[in-house]
Parts: sequence; structure tokens; C-alpha cells
Amino acid sequence: TASTDIRHYLQFSDFNAAEYAYIFERAALIKKKFKAYEKHQPLVDRTLAMIFEKASTRTRVSFEAGMYQLGGSVVHLTTGDSQLGRAEPIEDSAKVISRMVDLVMIRTYEQTKIELFAEHSRVPVINGLTNEFHPCQILADIFTYIEHRGSIRGKTVAWVGDGNNMANTWLQASEILGFKVHLSTPSGYEVDQSVAGIRSADSYKVFRDPMQACAGADLVTTDVWTSMGYEAENEARKKAFADWCVDSEMMKAAKPDALFMHCLPAHRGEEVEAEVIDGPQSVVWDEAENRLHAQKALMEFLLLGKLV
Ligand code: CP
Ligand code: NVA
Repeated sequence: TASTDIRHYLQFSDFNAAEYAYIFERAALIKKKFKAYEKHQPLVDRTLAMIFEKASTRTRVSFEAGMYQLGGSVVHLTTGDSQLGRAEPIEDSAKVISRMVDLVMIRTYEQTKIELFAEHSRVPVINGLTNEFHPCQILADIFTYIEHRGSIRGKTVAWVGDGNNMANTWLQASEILGFKVHLSTPSGYEVDQSVAGIRSADSYKVFRDPMQACAGADLVTTDVWTSMGYEAENEARKKAFADWCVDSEMMKAAKPDALFMHCLPAHRGEEVEAEVIDGPQSVVWDEAENRLHAQKALMEFLLLGKLV
């Protein structure tokens, strides 16, 4: 049976500020060792199962390479080539898979699916993206912010675009780590505070005009107009989101040293202009690389706890 003292990482709110401080410190150390070609293998003989019900480049490569670098191994499953696609109950899959591996990462649709899996799992479960949340991405994003600018506490993050999994996760992070989110979404695509489950509206502010959301921001960030699973809405979204393209005017409205982030994959000319994402304020390649280092720290923490 599943144990209740297992730590999972299903949403950003699963860890507190002190735990994030520890993970960011470990990520920095792990990155430094990686750059120096120094081995860091605390997870020898441990196995990570990765279950993908949606496509991925960064999440797959960072978890797979990361687990090997930590000394462990991985098993990669997709809906199409496992019994998951043939309606084996999630509870049964969780019981079986978690008897064979030490850690599970899942990318799926509804958050309730990953919660059900975790409930029946003997080992920690990591959210590799759901319709509602993308905690591993925000973990890497905040680690990237800290590397470039220091603490994010008290800063302002402008979110321009869809009130999606990324936006929900930024909201959770703002409440835990003490920064503000300025949200601008087209009408009909607003963030639902109850999905993020945050207690108050103190850490965020809603703006109709994306320029206003960017005014004075320390970080401007956006995401695709159409997330995975919402492809049928693509045409309607293209119309609704036309004014929510991060351009150099928006970057000028932000602080002069503001950073630009995007979780990728990006669509130049849709949610962001090429001159912004390929410009001097963009840190998107560091952000993508940091998935590797941040998630290695995450896996180490989930399996070994605090080491110091
Ligand atoms: N940002 C992100 O999660 O990318 P992938 O979909 O390529 O994993
Ligand atoms: N919001 C996007 C993020 C992709 C990494 C999606 O869910 O498809």
C-alpha cells in the first residue's frame, strides 16, 4: 500500500520557502559540478519511470539525462506503447510501476489523474506538466532568475497571455516565495484563482492591457497561445490573443534590466516577437538548460531529503 509520508511534487505549493532555498542551493552546486565534469552520483541503482501522455522535448531530455548523470537509470513509457493507453486503471498502474522503480514522473492531462496515481504510489511522483500546473518549469525559471538577478522576493513578474498551467504555477510560486505577478490575459482566458488554490489575491494583480502589466516588471514571461490538449481551439485563440504578443514596446515598459523568459517551444510572431526572444534580455536558453540542474536537485531531494 501507499505510504503517507512520501513527498510528492504535484504542484509548486507542495514545498515551502525553506525547502526551495535548499533545492536552489543544491541545483547551483550540481550545476557547478556538471560544468567542471565532476561526477555527482547520489542515486546509483535508483530508477525513474517517466510516463508521457503528451509530447515533450525538454522535460524528457532533462529528466532522462539528469537521472543518468545522478547515477541512476530511467524507463520511458508513453500512452501508445503501454497498457496506459488501453484503459488499465490508474490505481493499478501506480501500484505496479511504483513496486519496480524509485521515482515516477508523469506528464498528463487532468491534475486529478496525477493525484490519483500519487495516492496509490509507493514512491514519490513528480508532475512533468498537467493541464493545471507545470511546477518543474517554474522551479527552473526561478532558479534562472536567481542566477541572473539574485533573490526574486519583492520582484514583479509580468505574465502576458493564456491563464494556463504556467500562469497557475507562477501564482502559487508568488505566494510561497513572496513576489508579485502582474497578469494580462485576453477575456475568456483568465486565470482561475481557485485552480491555483491560492489563499488571497495579495500576490497578483490583473491588467486588461498587457503594456500595463509589463510596466516596471523585473521579468516578462509568456507561453504558447494554444497549450497541448487545446488544439481544437487554435483558430479562436489566434484571434483572441492577437494583442498579447510580447514585443519590444512591452520590454521597454518593463525595467531596463528586465529579463524575458519562455518555457518553450516558442512561436515567433505569435506570443513573442523574434527580436525579444532572440534579443539581449532573453534568457530562454539558460532557462531550458536549468531544467536539467533544477530537476536533478529535485530528484535528489525527493529520494534522499536534505543532505546537510
Ligand atoms: N518547457 C517544456 O516543458 O518543454 P517540453 O514540452 O519540450 O518538455
Ligand atoms: N502551456 C504549454 C506548456 C508547454 C511546455 C502546454 O501545456 O502545452
